[in-house]
Amino acid sequence: MIDDTTVQRLVDAARDARERAYAPYSNFSVGAAVLDEQGRIHAGCNVENAAYPQGLCAEANAIAHLVMAGGRRIEAVAVAGVANEPVTPCGGCRQKIREFAADGTPVLVADASGLRVRFTLGELLPASFGPQHLERDA
Ligand code: THU
Repeated sequence: MIDDTTVQRLVDAARDARERAYAPYSNFSVGAAVLDEQGRIHAGCNVENAAYPQGLCAEANAIAHLVMAGGRRIEAVAVAGVANEPVTPCGGCRQKIREFAADGTPVLVADASGLRVRFTLGELLPASFGPQHLERDA
């Protein structure tokens, strides 16, 4: 369980990161923040590219920062976006989060006014494929 203060810090970090988005093609700014096993928060924004498929999602950017800082676990995720519906992580990012997180890991979805809805990773990516599938006897 993460406490309310940490939830707020994580959501704020995702909302701040969203302000840094480089999204000149979609004009759809996203921010993300991940909490690591040491209680540190790593943030990222989406970074688009003129070669559209080369664009990077906010979650992938935040995860890259976590790994660069030596983190190995994701204890919670926050995503911030503004749309008619809550901006949940895309399918590819759910899998990227899964690499470092468990089914019960909270995924907090925020918009301009703050936390909007709370999921677990298992709800967003049920029966997922993960690193344990590669651990088998020869
Ligand atoms: N985007 C993210 O950064 N994260 C998501 O989970 C959903 C989509 C970005 C990718 C692209 O730059 C823009 O939002 C529109 O799809």
